[in-house]
Amino acid sequence: MLAGKCVVLGVTGGIAAYKAVEVASRLRKLGATVFVVMTRAAANFVTPLTFREISGNPVVTSMWDEPKLWNVEHIALATRADLFLIAPATANVIGKLAAGIADDMLTTTVLATKAPVVLAPAMNCNMYLNPVVQANIAKLAGLGYHFLPPDEGPLACGAEGPGRLPDPAVIVDEVAALLGAGGELAGKKVLVTAGPTREAIDPVRYIGNRSSGKMGYAVARAAAARGADVVLVTGPTALTPPPGVRVVAVETAAEMLAAVLAEYDDCAVVVKAAAVADYRPLAPAEHKIKKHGDELTLTLTKTEDILAELGRRKQGQVLVGFAAETRDLAANAGDKLTRKNLDMVVANDVTLPGAGFSGDTNIARLLYRDGRAEELGLMSKEELAGIILQRIYGLLTR
Ligand code: PMT
Repeated sequence: MLAGKCVVLGVTGGIAAYKAVEVASRLRKLGATVFVVMTRAAANFVTPLTFREISGNPVVTSMWDEPKLWNVEHIALATRADLFLIAPATANVIGKLAAGIADDMLTTTVLATKAPVVLAPAMNCNMYLNPVVQANIAKLAGLGYHFLPPDEGPLACGAEGPGRLPDPAVIVDEVAALLGAGGELAGKKVLVTAGPTREAIDPVRYIGNRSSGKMGYAVARAAAARGADVVLVTGPTALTPPPGVRVVAVETAAEMLAAVLAEYDDCAVVVKAAAVADYRPLAPAEHKIKKHGDELTLTLTKTEDILAELGRRKQGQVLVGFAAETRDLAANAGDKLTRKNLDMVVANDVTLPGAGFSGDTNIARLLYRDGRAEELGLMSKEELAGIILQRIYGLLTR
């Protein structure tokens, strides 16, 4: 995917520096030439030796070292870079770049490059939200620097909020997308559904489910990173859609059906990761249902099975469904594969710790039409999405 591309990876002094090792490794596995520039502080968290081994290239930590490969190192690296990635980017390096300060090898090289610069901030949430840091980010973004927003969650410092370095797979997908690489799905339209549906009971209540949309959004991101023209039909989620993806927001199963059918005919691939309601209230109340009596009976009626309808209308599209099961995973998922006329099913046992709804990880088994099955262990949803897209590419080119 990244063969022939040179990525200069700047690593600054935060605890997330250890994750940059995986970023370097993934970039190299995708064929990129990787050069690492570390700040002095970064070298307190991870040794330059680690990055040298992982990148396969000398690591630069100081302006004053004897040049290892190049004459004027900061200029040579700045010129050689197809993309400059700083991960993690501390408040300090963001501040220095915003002020035009060049007092070490990293900041000097960034100032000297004409390549796109991507920063992945990672720090304490209060630091990240500090107006000074936000103003620096806004200034750099206005000047054309790309920012990968940090994830929210528990931080190494004990606080909770935005500040976590995104998953290395997400960072690498963004790099690939920016480099216009991974063209293996270029020119192909990929439709992805994600998130839950909501079926109204009355104007204030609905039947929903636990889907966060993370799995489907990861698939959409991975498809975009491979150059596809991605349409993401999404139920209500709290997620930011991946860049470069066309979003169609829906709420109910009926709306999802209409949105999907409107996009279907010229699709090369459809991946249905959404958790769609199988039943909806037959007659949603016009007004809020008042509380009286100890019991309330709702009559539900079946929704349309969107995936089965796509299977019936299929004309050469690669059709991939998910199966969320709580028992008999292989048998139930296999049944969906044949009944819905699918090419592949991503089956997840949603009772397993680390699998299924809401979390950042999943455990899946891939089932194919020809009877093959592939068992995948616990991994991030981003990583699973990458594998799903690789397998889809295999199905498209078989
Ligand atoms: O969103 P996350 O929090 O990241 O969670 C991920 C996930 C658990 C939602 C995802 O991994 C997953 O399993 N998605 C499918 C959920 C589901 O509805 O499974 P199902 O076995 O009920 O449906 C099988 C397939 O038919 C699915 O592709 C579904 O999109 C589709 N379907 C189902 C019902 C319906 N009326 N129309 C459909 O198209």
